[in-house]
Amino acid sequence: MNLAALQATAAALFADDRGLLAMDESNGTCNQRFAELGVPQTEAARRAYREMLVTTPRLGEAISGAILYDETIRQSTAAGVPFVKVLEGAGIIPGIKVDLGARPLAAHPGETVTEGLDGLRERFAEYASMGARFAKWRAVINLGAGLPSQGCLDANAHALARYAALAQEAGLAPIVEPEVLATGDETLETCRAVTEAVLQAVFDQLRRQQVALEGMILKPNMVTPGLARPAQDGVDAVAAATVDCLRRAAPAAVPGIAFLSGGQSDQLASARLNAMAILRKSADARLPWALSFSYGRALQRAALELWRGDPAQVPAAQRALLHRAQCNRAARQGEYTAQMEPA
Ligand code: 13P
Repeated sequence: MNLAALQATAAALFADDRGLLAMDESNGTCNQRFAELGVPQTEAARRAYREMLVTTPRLGEAISGAILYDETIRQSTAAGVPFVKVLEGAGIIPGIKVDLGARPLAAHPGETVTEGLDGLRERFAEYASMGARFAKWRAVINLGAGLPSQGCLDANAHALARYAALAQEAGLAPIVEPEVLATGDETLETCRAVTEAVLQAVFDQLRRQQVALEGMILKPNMVTPGLARPAQDGVDAVAAATVDCLRRAAPAAVPGIAFLSGGQSDQLASARLNAMAILRKSADARLPWALSFSYGRALQRAALELWRGDPAQVPAAQRALLHRAQCNRAARQGEYTAQMEPA
């Protein structure tokens, strides 16, 4: 394992207050979002959409890396330039999602385990040859009565660690993404306690599988109340709970943490990250890792809704994507304000 190269990739992904664009939706998820907007669910439409994203002018000012999907890393612009080359030309590092999705975990009703370890060494070799320099694997932890079970945490943490070790062997910096899905009326405290337990299980397994913590990136959920909970805690409470949880559970050797957006609104995702950057500046909250964003929906939503498959809307959609990326870059600096948003 070339730890120096992995560390250099991780450092580059957090440099200059830039962040990650997660555009690695599986075909199923991408099609679902297209269907809601009346966009045809075809390979051609997915290619056109991803071309709109990666050719956004000045995107590299705020985005350091883009996470691609297997179909997307093989695609090119209409003019025939591979997306990987477009990204590299914009100063954006290409990455690849390598998990094959969450499937029902046997004997654990309501819980899933993420699959995709079989043949992963060979797939890493191909992705590396195509230019991918980092990778992602997402585990999903559902909440509910009696959930999550320890069996679910152990199975997902083990798979994440096996994936991360293979990624480092192949020279790709692994993004380790355990997502606690707080989509119901869960309290902030429930999300905090489960997230801490999940991270503890994940780091136990990462150590056991000899993953170099210095050469990886953690991509957790923020600690939030459930999306459907009527009374939402304030931005500062979410930021404090998230930072407290991470200080307890994420080792200082990890260079950086990049949050997923998890269905939060665009503006909340920016405001909560901003509040964490402000916390960092306060004397009693020195934090060992960089804090950043690796958003999917909270970066793409506005652009997708403008685009809707219409080539004439590409410039407007690209402006919307750049705007969200710039808002989140400002949030990393603690300089995001609601005044940055259109009235
Ligand atoms: P969201 O930001 O939409 O949660 O997506 C991030 C991601 O990569 C999910 O795996």
